Amino acid sequence: MTTNHLQAAYDQIAEGFADVTADMPPELILAAEQFLGITRPGALILDLGCGAGRDMAWFESQGATVVGSDLSAGMLAQARLRARGNLVQADMRRLPFQTGCFRGVWCCAAILHLPKADAPRALAETHRILSPGGALFLAVQEGMGEGWERTTRYGEPIERFFARYRAEEMTALLVEGDFALRDHTANSAGSRHWLNFMTTAK
Ligand SMILES: C[S@@+](CC[C@H](N)C(=O)[O-])C[C@H]1O[C@@H](n2cnc3c(N)ncnc32)[C@H](O)[C@@H]1O
Repeated sequence: MTTNHLQAAYDQIAEGFADVTADMPPELILAAEQFLGITRPGALILDLGCGAGRDMAWFESQGATVVGSDLSAGMLAQARLRARGNLVQADMRRLPFQTGCFRGVWCCAAILHLPKADAPRALAETHRILSPGGALFLAVQEGMGEGWERTTRYGEPIERFFARYRAEEMTALLVEGDFALRDHTANSAGSRHWLNFMTTAK
């Protein structure tokens, strides 16, 4: 199965995903406030893998200027209902943005859909589009291994590819990608364990 399969899965569940994940969890709001403390007021932010636009809309409610980018046109259509900023359909491994043009990249629960072998490429692209000292927030699920998983959580059954990481594994990838680690937190939501990394581009 391929990237097209993942894209089609998100196109199919976009409305259900938006409903189920409508509320931004409190720990994510805390991280988003910390992120805004690093990016300067009014600076341009990219919500990478913005999905249905929940976090993008929150950043806009705080006065930030945000571009949203996602693989799935269905998810971007949902984001259009919530957020004002530009929306761009793109794969995070090949970003159509100029070098150094963002002061912050917010990437919540999205890089976990790439095969682990592709994560360094996505991090390199993210580093390229950040200005020096710009912030990268990354949230992934804790665990080991990777593969396709079936879910009915958002309506019709679909399959998504997941790669899960140990904290030290993702820390090593970030360091290799020339990011400085500012903060690392972990939290649980139901059966999912999340690892949140706040970093800056060297
Ligand atoms: C679990 S959702 C998270 C959405 C949003 N960030 C949130 O936290 O609600 C994952 C999102 O990543 C997107 N995605 C998956 N692979 C991607 C890729 N290679 N490039 C860009 N976006 C991707 C999916 O289309 C989906 O919208």
